[in-house]
Amino acid sequence: MTGTAAVIAGIGTWLPPRVVDNAELSRRLDTSDEWIRSRTGIRQRHVVEPGMSTADLAVEAGARALKSADGCGVDTVVLATTTPDHPCPSTAPEVANRLGLAGVAAFDLNGVCAGFIYALAAGAGLVVAGVAEGVLVIGADTFSTLLDPTDRSTVPIFGDGAGAVVLRRGLATELGALGPFDLGSHGGLAGLLMVPAGGSRQRSTGEPAGYYFRMVGKPVFRQAVERMAASARVALGRAGWTVPEVDRLVAHQANARILRAVGDELDIPPDRVVRNVDLVGNTVAASIPLAMADAARDGLLRPGDRVLACSFGGGLTWGSTTLRWPDLEPV
Ligand code: UT7
Repeated sequence: MTGTAAVIAGIGTWLPPRVVDNAELSRRLDTSDEWIRSRTGIRQRHVVEPGMSTADLAVEAGARALKSADGCGVDTVVLATTTPDHPCPSTAPEVANRLGLAGVAAFDLNGVCAGFIYALAAGAGLVVAGVAEGVLVIGADTFSTLLDPTDRSTVPIFGDGAGAVVLRRGLATELGALGPFDLGSHGGLAGLLMVPAGGSRQRSTGEPAGYYFRMVGKPVFRQAVERMAASARVALGRAGWTVPEVDRLVAHQANARILRAVGDELDIPPDRVVRNVDLVGNTVAASIPLAMADAARDGLLRPGDRVLACSFGGGLTWGSTTLRWPDLEPV
């Protein structure tokens, strides 16, 4: 493929310092380390302290991505999040301002767990169309703030975190150039993962309650596997790659069993499937950049590696893309 493309020029991540392991959860919920590890693969997750917000995480990850990009200019900030600091205004302008980028274009994008791939596609589109020169794409969520602390079916699964990349304009033949995207949604199944209250539907009636996230786990599991595998196949086909050419699959870190199943569906062996869900849980919009950065730090993603990235989340939403891993240091 030739021509103009959006190229990843830097990547940074940040996790709130407080770690909650399965033993701690087992003391306050009717659950066990054994259940959580065997059903999800998760051993621990990071959660925010009281008073810490999504913007705080996004600023930390954004600053690190800018440092990793080493002087690459940014005129747009796209923040993928389902947990903005406020219903109004969006959080991206505050994040941009705190990063010393006051004046740039800044907006939030809510694609839940597929949000980062959607935001990458939006950022890449702006760069390739010539609307933006450099885009800071951040995925940040404090999903722990949406959870019912007494709900054992959701609390063990989610963690808080942030990851960010800087996109610049370059050539499709360069390392780090984003390939074609596949994006999709199915709103008919929105009720499978939802926070019922807090939006206009509930506010217009004034009905109370329903401020916590709820999820119907089993069908979501099936949808996650089917949608990610199907979407990844479309992105692969558009890139003109075959499955054996894929060095690493970076899929949304929702559950180790889901990762295994997506790999199986695609015929990608487990040693080529990136996995950090054990240490961070499901970090929603931060999941993909956190998994990429951790894999790069561990030497599992090397410059030139062919990466297939796919994600799935509430909405339902899903998305995939491809890239050859750039030669850069995650910060
Ligand atoms: O980012 C995208 C969003 N989310 C996902 O991708 C999550 C997709 N779903 C899943 O990962 C899995 O469905 C879960 C991990 C959420 C649940 O695993 P499961 O194997 O589907 O379990 P289940 O919901 O069918 O529950 C099995 C049993 C139930 O008990 P009964 O009805 O069999 O007596 C649950 O009440 O396990 C029980 N259970 C628990 N037990 C101990 C549910 N949560 C827990 C828990 N500890 N934390």
